[in-house]
Amino acid sequence: TILIVDFGSQVTQLIARRVREAGVYSEIAPFTMAEEAFRRMKPRGVILSGSPASVPDENSPRAPQMLFEAGVPILGICYGQQVMTHQLGGEVRPGHETGEGGEFGRAFLTVTEKCALFDGLWQNEERHQVWMSHGDKVTKFAPGFEIVATSDGAPFAVIADEKRRFYGTQFHPEVVHTPDGGKLIANFVRHVCGCAGDWTMAQFRDVKIAEIREQVGDAKVICGLSGGVDSAVAAVLIHEAIGDQLTCVFVDHGLMRMGEAEQVVGLFKGHYNIPLVHVDASTLFLKGLEGVSDPEAKRKFIGKTFIDVFEDEARKIGGADFLAQGTLYPDVIESVSFTGGPSVTIKSHHNVGGLPERMDMDLVEPLRELFKDEVRELGRELGLPDIFVGRHPFPGPGLAIRIPGEVSREKADILRKADAIYLEEIRNAGLYDAIWQAFAVLLPVKTVGVMGDGRTYDFVCALRAVTSTDGMTADVYPFDSHFLSQCATRIVNEVKGINRVVYDYTSKPPGTIEWE
Ligand code: XMP
Repeated sequence: TILIVDFGSQVTQLIARRVREAGVYSEIAPFTMAEEAFRRMKPRGVILSGSPASVPDENSPRAPQMLFEAGVPILGICYGQQVMTHQLGGEVRPGHETGEGGEFGRAFLTVTEKCALFDGLWQNEERHQVWMSHGDKVTKFAPGFEIVATSDGAPFAVIADEKRRFYGTQFHPEVVHTPDGGKLIANFVRHVCGCAGDWTMAQFRDVKIAEIREQVGDAKVICGLSGGVDSAVAAVLIHEAIGDQLTCVFVDHGLMRMGEAEQVVGLFKGHYNIPLVHVDASTLFLKGLEGVSDPEAKRKFIGKTFIDVFEDEARKIGGADFLAQGTLYPDVIESVSFTGGPSVTIKSHHNVGGLPERMDMDLVEPLRELFKDEVRELGRELGLPDIFVGRHPFPGPGLAIRIPGEVSREKADILRKADAIYLEEIRNAGLYDAIWQAFAVLLPVKTVGVMGDGRTYDFVCALRAVTSTDGMTADVYPFDSHFLSQCATRIVNEVKGINRVVYDYTSKPPGTIEWE
């Protein structure tokens, strides 16, 4: 195993991900808990993360000194390199003092010496693209170290003490913009630390099951299912761990996609035999949404009502001690943050966010360190059918935010049909997995058409499809026009209430993926 010491970098989890990709298990511990974690884990190596803090600042975080005396290899990344240098007797100075600016973004590295990190990867005198993001700089390395690679802005781009097996990179090997970074991290954990590299998602599952058992004991856990992949995978995993101590609640707000409720209930009750409470609360939601057309008002109402219903159901089954959620890493704004300052609210995301406080429950979040594609892999490992695991994301507020303006049951029914046809066409064309998310939107606009010999005056349907890796940015999926005409024809012919179809060509930014 590898211990990753977190100094509050936004991308610490990416380090863990790269270590997992190298087939090695790792745990992340905030720097304040690193000593305890080290003693417990007895890791074969340690990676020190980046940080928004500045080493020359006296109050900035330090690594436990014992790590440097424990005889295990250490890789310091960015701040990690600087803090190691500082703690071992070298010197780090703020960018403004050295008279040179920092380096941010793409940089090119020249390899000057052989180094175990570069084994089978980089040779002397080669240049390689890496990703930098630092203001401060190492100006004198600590005794025992030597420079093994440089860049224009960082003469100490990679330093190494091969004897102690301590390495420092000024750049970030964990991000995708350092194309060889994953291999470099693999070299560290496998060649330098000697980890076998045979760790798999199957083992992740076993580790998590053990953790869940330990956390929960014989207490009761309740889990809200949304129909999405994340909550489903979390629920199945937890059920494997604690069996019928878990109860799932599926709140159907009447704004699900075609067949969604049946699929979820079928899968959980039928296939897995997991205790499931299925609440049809569609009337409550749809009544409450009458007259509401502001996007934030819709989101807030749905979020709050969801909590009300969930709470009621939880009470009916005698309450629970823990609430399980399918929170993923991108949902988490991480543990040790020094930056602070709330970002602007673009949309109030609906999840079960308000629940833990209101119900005073502890959280079970076994997917917190995973990314979406890893959750899918875990889902497959748990035997969830591909059709479920590979599903496109679906927002908590459901179709309500795909019906700009006032929502009604009739509109939801119309949209459901159009959406199902569009997705069926996408599946038939073999495009489903190439697209991050595709859906139809029902516009609150009626236009004139002609069908048969009659005049129609019906709604406009917009189609959207985007590619993305994390939903934070997105590009429009470039269907060919023949495909789009085929969808338009089918939707207008088969869905009463829609007589015109348009395609949304907006990327994110400036658009968002959902329309509201
Ligand atoms: P936007 O529309 O903000 O969406 O570009 C980014 C991703 O998040 C999904 N989304 C939500 N998911 N609750 C969710 O669980 C929400 O309230 C919510 N709003 C948007 C959206 O579908 C896309 O995948």
